[in-house]
Amino acid sequence: MKKVILDCDPGMDDSVAIIMAAKSPDLELLAVTAVSGNYPVSVTCANARKVLEMLGRTDIPVAGGMAHPMVRPAPPDPFSHGRDGQGENFLPDPVTPPAAEHAVDIIIRLARENPGEVTVLCTGPMSNLAMAITKAPELTEQLAGVIAISGAFGLNRYAFTNATGDTPQSEWNVYVDPEAAKIVYESGLPLVALGLDVATHFDVNFSEQQIRSFADSPRPEARFLRQAIRYADGIGFEAYTTIIDCMAVGYAIDPTLVETIQGHVGVETESRLTLGMTVLDRRHHHAWTHLPRITIGAKADYSRFLALLSELILR
Ligand code: BDR
Ligand code: CA
Repeated sequence: MKKVILDCDPGMDDSVAIIMAAKSPDLELLAVTAVSGNYPVSVTCANARKVLEMLGRTDIPVAGGMAHPMVRPAPPDPFSHGRDGQGENFLPDPVTPPAAEHAVDIIIRLARENPGEVTVLCTGPMSNLAMAITKAPELTEQLAGVIAISGAFGLNRYAFTNATGDTPQSEWNVYVDPEAAKIVYESGLPLVALGLDVATHFDVNFSEQQIRSFADSPRPEARFLRQAIRYADGIGFEAYTTIIDCMAVGYAIDPTLVETIQGHVGVETESRLTLGMTVLDRRHHHAWTHLPRITIGAKADYSRFLALLSELILR
């Protein structure tokens, strides 16, 4: 079993990602760490606990993390996850308290206790991980790697037509805390960035039959997803918006789901017009090879991904 920490900002798609990670027999979910992103950390931390309580998995600790991006105020979310941040599922308030440790400290401790074994799945802004690396630089040697829903790399039209941050070029998770993303990208940690190119493709949509099977399932998590899809539909969004973050979990379970390339990427932290843009240098000549070289999702097998997701939700 692969040991993972899910660092997230639930968020309806983060919530479904938690369900997948908690239910996968291939993953050992050591902790869920919450960060401010889609909502303030008080909300995202409560939402993560609500999901784990729905699953009966209160054995998995949930730690609250960074309340703000590293150096700038949190922007308002232009993409609505609903009044409760969970596609208006309105789950009961959690009864389990958050972990006593801060998210940054739990990441550092779990990496130390399991050297070389822990992969961090980042499905929110990278503030917690960037702060953990800043506090304990040895983390870059101790973690196995990072799989993130992060950026957009211009590999297809979805990279920019589905931009989620508040500029024409940015992706929400990087846009919220570009300095944190820059720290993680430049840290030397093995980083797989699954950007909007692969995570927001219009083929990431369920069949009618899959949606019916969620509605008919006795499992509360299946009905949770059904409601999130209904909510997204009601505000004019495609169903993929409910499962963007799930691709990080899917890739952790089965890396053959996504074809990747290697490339040098810089994170824009200054320009108002392109703040948070992840710039992939693909030039043959004069390429900026000093930029960090990371692994980038280029193409996904959407039908296998959706089959895995459905199987885990209904299991
Ligand atoms: C990201 O933006 C958030 O709204 C989603 O949860 C996802 O992590 C996609 O850009
Ligand atoms: Ca998210």
